[in-house]
Amino acid sequence: MNQTPVVQFQHAMKRIGKRTIVNDLSFDIQAGEVFGFLGPNGAGKTTTIRMMVGLIKISQGDILIKGHSISKDFNKAIRNVGAIVENPDLYKYLTGYQNLKHYARMVPGVTKARIEEIVGIVGLRDRIHDKVKTYSLGMRQRLGIAQALLHRPSLLILDEPTNGLDPAGIHELRNYLKRLAHEESVAVFVSSHLLSEMELMCDRVGVLQNGKLVRIQSIQDFVHDGGSSLVCVTVESSQVEQAKRLIATLKKEILPIRQPGQLLIPLNKDEIPTVNKLLMQAGIQIYSIQVQEQTLEDKFLELTEERK
Ligand SMILES: Nc1ncnc2c1ncn2[C@@H]1O[C@H](COP(=O)(O)OP(=O)(O)O)[C@@H](O)[C@H]1O
Ligand SMILES: [Mg+2]
Repeated sequence: MNQTPVVQFQHAMKRIGKRTIVNDLSFDIQAGEVFGFLGPNGAGKTTTIRMMVGLIKISQGDILIKGHSISKDFNKAIRNVGAIVENPDLYKYLTGYQNLKHYARMVPGVTKARIEEIVGIVGLRDRIHDKVKTYSLGMRQRLGIAQALLHRPSLLILDEPTNGLDPAGIHELRNYLKRLAHEESVAVFVSSHLLSEMELMCDRVGVLQNGKLVRIQSIQDFVHDGGSSLVCVTVESSQVEQAKRLIATLKKEILPIRQPGQLLIPLNKDEIPTVNKLLMQAGIQIYSIQVQEQTLEDKFLELTEERK
């Protein structure tokens, strides 16, 4: 796995007027991965993508695509990119197939066989000869992706592709993007402000906040590691005050109790045995210790809140 990354951000910056919209982005995207670019509205996702596809200039730094600088060697760089930045340009009164043929005329080297192949890949074979106006949003999305993929790019960029899709459409898109990355080795760069979707769709996520990358991690690590979890300890309710006093000696905060006998304590994983031992040694009857995993949403908020 020692190949040149498909995308290399090198201190990429975007300033508009006096404002820094994208602030010193440096990271790589590899072939065969779905990379989630996650951040709240206004974080700078679309601005970053617009720089990647040459719609706006980079103020400072560079972005390399397959080793080619998007600012110095635009034609070579962009040849490797397929993107849907705003809505895909589709002609509603033409069929899906006619749309693809029309588009293929504008890019060199796209054969009829390639059109057939891509129709299969995006799963539109049954409907490709129907007019686009009869398509669901999900099907239009896939036709847009087909169009973006016709020239076999190494990188597919999608800006908030799940916007407006229903759950079934999102499910379809997710499976499709994964297949594309894992089986066809395309690097997929997908932006979103919705963490729950990224969790299922991406191999890695980068979290953008106020134009800065505040974290970059495999999705497993993002979900499982770091931070404290909320631990719910249930003890014999007559002993709850005693238990609280003991835990207070560890300088741990105890959150308001919801049920008699329950203690809610933010703890790191390695502190749980200590609390357990302390209570047991004092003769407190422990009925259960439950770790309430922080949801991705919680983590995301924690990450983005603390930097405001
Ligand atoms: N052309 C522009 N002129 C001034 N400000 C802009 C321009 N484009 C984007 N911005 C600002 O940059 C910030 C990031 O915008 P954007 O990249 O669209 O964020 P996102 O896609 O993450 O929601 C926003 O505050 C937006 O108002
Ligand atoms: Mg945007």
